[in-house]
Amino acid sequence: MTVTLVAAVARNGVIGRDGGIPWKLPGEQARFKAITMGHVLVMGRRTYESIGRPLPGRTTVVVSRRPDWQPPGGRPHGVRVATSVELALRLAAEIDDQVYVAGGALVYADCLPHTDELLISWVDAEPDGDTFFPSVDWSDWAETDRKQHDGWAVARYVRATHTEGYKGSHGDQV
Ligand SMILES: NC(=O)c1ccc[n+]([C@@H]2O[C@H](COP(=O)([O-])OP(=O)(O)OC[C@H]3O[C@@H](n4cnc5c(N)ncnc54)[C@H](OP(=O)(O)O)[C@@H]3O)[C@@H](O)[C@H]2O)c1
Repeated sequence: MTVTLVAAVARNGVIGRDGGIPWKLPGEQARFKAITMGHVLVMGRRTYESIGRPLPGRTTVVVSRRPDWQPPGGRPHGVRVATSVELALRLAAEIDDQVYVAGGALVYADCLPHTDELLISWVDAEPDGDTFFPSVDWSDWAETDRKQHDGWAVARYVRATHTEGYKGSHGDQV
């Protein structure tokens, strides 16, 4: 199984405000849809409730510590519930060998130790927010790929130990 954490992060670390995302970036959500389509998402209960519905074409494993939590209005097809990130990742692995961790901050933090790669959309803005990307020890991660878009750039990181001999994007041997 490959666990990929996918997030959009502003320059000041903000990822959310008032239960939503404080920006609209042409192409960013379409990119999220394209890469995750057909796979399985793990997300926190608050993120699921902020989206308000299952994302089509993907199985969603929602993490909640409340064993009786159900999506408002009943559990739709394609939505599973787990009471820990470990159980969520185990359940996700039974469904697909590519798992995307889709936030929010609490779930990113708890899934980080289980994550193989990061796909970060760096948003070129400093919005007000109340939810922040967790702190990451970037010396553990090596950037392998970066693509610039208008107002944001997407970068891929793998664990530094997986890239022996790889020449980093700044020419550093990592
Ligand atoms: N920019 C981005 O890429 C991005 C992506 C996703 C979300 N967001 C934003 O982030 C915000 C939501 O993030 P958030 O951090 O507040 O909430 P969250 O991580 O989406 O959900 C938190 C909830 O998930 C459950 N949970 C978290 N860790 C758990 C664990 N280890 N075991 C069991 N359950 C666990 C708990 O649910 P219970 O309380 O039910 O126990 C917890 O209250 C929103 O503003 C959203 O729009 C941004």
